[in-house]
Amino acid sequence: MSNDKPVIAILGGTGKEGPGLALRWARAGYKVLIGSRDEERARATATELNAQLGLTSVEGHANAEAARLADISVLTVVQSAHAAALESVKSALEGKILVDATARVEFADPRPPESPSAGRLAQNLLGAGTRVVAAFQNVPASALKKNLDQPVKTDVLVCADDVVAGEMVVELAEAGGMTAYYAGGLDNAVVVEGITALLIAMNKHYRGHGTVQITGIQK
Ligand SMILES: NC(=O)c1ccc[n+]([C@@H]2O[C@H](COP(=O)([O-])OP(=O)(O)OC[C@H]3O[C@@H](n4cnc5c(N)ncnc54)[C@H](OP(=O)(O)O)[C@@H]3O)[C@@H](O)[C@H]2O)c1
Repeated sequence: MSNDKPVIAILGGTGKEGPGLALRWARAGYKVLIGSRDEERARATATELNAQLGLTSVEGHANAEAARLADISVLTVVQSAHAAALESVKSALEGKILVDATARVEFADPRPPESPSAGRLAQNLLGAGTRVVAAFQNVPASALKKNLDQPVKTDVLVCADDVVAGEMVVELAEAGGMTAYYAGGLDNAVVVEGITALLIAMNKHYRGHGTVQITGIQK
């Protein structure tokens, strides 16, 4: 496949959220690299996703190699591994964009996390040479994985200090079938993480699958 779309790495792409995003972007014609601590596990997930889509464009690599080969990396590791995973790919992300999907909210006891946002923590850890964008924290894995031929019924709030990088991720989200909005700087991302706490509480209370949708903005 030859195209001018950025190559996307999904670091920790063997879990729940990562494969959902990978399916959407691979289907939209992006080359997607699944990352894992274990290269074999990454390859196995890539094989499953290719089989599901009837493609060969999804590859599996160790996290650092995936980040090295990609233009844009998306972090979807379990929350507790946030710092360790970033440390393991730090040098590979130099000069690139890191999209942080981390929502530091527990399903069993959903509460808003404390500032600074996970995205700000990532930016501090990675340093100024990497542009961090926080996005996808409210997009349920289950919504990404079903009805691949239809848009995802949720909006994506994209926070970044670098507006150009933020707009690139807005474009990426929209290519994956989501509606996305730039929503301010990285410090705002703690509010987006907190919305996850609201959604979990509401979905438990109403036994629903509520997501976020913005009205009143013409794009
Ligand atoms: N699940 C959702 O619906 C959802 C929605 C929005 C945002 N998110 C966010 O997306 C992120 C991932 O969520 P998830 O539900 O996909 O998590 P998950 O399935 O529990 O785990 C994702 C991946 O994290 C990696 N991992 C586990 N321990 C690690 C460690 N010590 N160091 C490095 N990597 C480690 C594993 O990959 P390997 O073992 O292959 O390395 C695992 O497949 C979280 O930050 C979450 O807040 C999730």
